[in-house]
Amino acid sequence: MKKYKVGVIGATGMVGQRFVSLLDNHPWFELTVVAASSRSAGKTYEEAVAGRWFMPAPVPEAAKKLVVKTAETDISEIAGAVDFVFSAVDMKKEEIKALEEAYARAECPVVSNNSAHRWTPDVPMVIPEINPEHIRVIDSQRKRLGTERGFISVKSNCSIQSYVPALHPLKEEFGLTKILACTYQAISGAGKTFESWPEMIDNVIPYIGGEEDKSEREPLKVWGKIHGGVIETAVSPSITSQCLRVPASDGHMAAVFASFEKKPSIDIIKERWAAFKGRAQELGLPSAPKQFLHYFEEENRPQTKLDRMLENGMAISVGRLREDTQYDVKFVCLSHNTLRGAAGGGVLMAELLCAEGYMK
Ligand SMILES: NC(=O)c1ccc[n+]([C@@H]2O[C@H](COP(=O)([O-])OP(=O)(O)OC[C@H]3O[C@@H](n4cnc5c(N)ncnc54)[C@H](OP(=O)(O)O)[C@@H]3O)[C@@H](O)[C@H]2O)c1
Repeated sequence: MKKYKVGVIGATGMVGQRFVSLLDNHPWFELTVVAASSRSAGKTYEEAVAGRWFMPAPVPEAAKKLVVKTAETDISEIAGAVDFVFSAVDMKKEEIKALEEAYARAECPVVSNNSAHRWTPDVPMVIPEINPEHIRVIDSQRKRLGTERGFISVKSNCSIQSYVPALHPLKEEFGLTKILACTYQAISGAGKTFESWPEMIDNVIPYIGGEEDKSEREPLKVWGKIHGGVIETAVSPSITSQCLRVPASDGHMAAVFASFEKKPSIDIIKERWAAFKGRAQELGLPSAPKQFLHYFEEENRPQTKLDRMLENGMAISVGRLREDTQYDVKFVCLSHNTLRGAAGGGVLMAELLCAEGYMK
């Protein structure tokens, strides 16, 4: 099979490095372009990330000698050289919006990890196992942009990637009405390590800017429906959250409470989780976990350090399901924030878009 040529915009950053690592030996994708700011442009990728390579494996051989392009000024050259780009840049929201739209208008599809376009009504925000049908809104987005190939699709915020998957198989059947989710989020979510953020050692910070709003609103877009060429957000369930930064390197944990119109039994919930398969599993996408939701019967699991890498960091770990006195049930869940929650989720979304014919 001929591989898709892909570029990474923001390739030198924390999430960009994850993309570069995941694309190494990918069965469908070949990394041919890396781009970042003018600070990195003109250097080889190896030079540009020297002294700030955060990944466990070394810089992939295929990426080392690529010369870093300037993401903001080399748009037509990059768009002409690749089939699509992944975007993970740290810029002002309005600048990211304009940059991603410029790539889309240059007929280069953008699979974005950034939040800038999450609330653009005709941009799908996709978790491939949950709302794959939202990619059909791309047809109306292309009409608005006046493009044949170009479009933008985005990932949701990493904080919701643990609890939305666990609640999704129960939502319609039992009428999910109310969620309380407290998240315990790793420092890599802020693009940091313990070396670059020593204040986080032996510490918890009870504030992550903008995160509670995203945690409460984004699930409603993911659970929305296409209507009139845009995604109409769902009106329920009602969601409240608190998001805390904790001293873990990778892995976002969530403590979740949920109520339903028809309360399911504990055994039925475990059955639904074990049986759940999404479009990503049906299509057998290369980065899809075989079992999306893993339930742990042990009382002290899942644990961040032990379980975040389950199925290459793409599966969701769930545990401690029990009845609650205020809500119907409560449980904990865990997802890897820079794999499933960021670059891995982006690669899986790109695989879905290829399989469904949107990258032709
Ligand atoms: N870390 C996570 O877990 C996570 C999860 C979900 C979403 N995100 C989002 O993903 C994005 C990237 O996050 P990150 O943690 O990877 O940030 P980061 O480590 O600070 O990396 C930022 C990247 O953006 C590039 N950049 C900055 N200004 C630019 C410009 N004017 N033009 C082109 N490129 C520019 C940087 O290039 P230089 O190296 O040349 O400066 C670098 O490649 C952010 O929007 C973040 O909110 C992060």
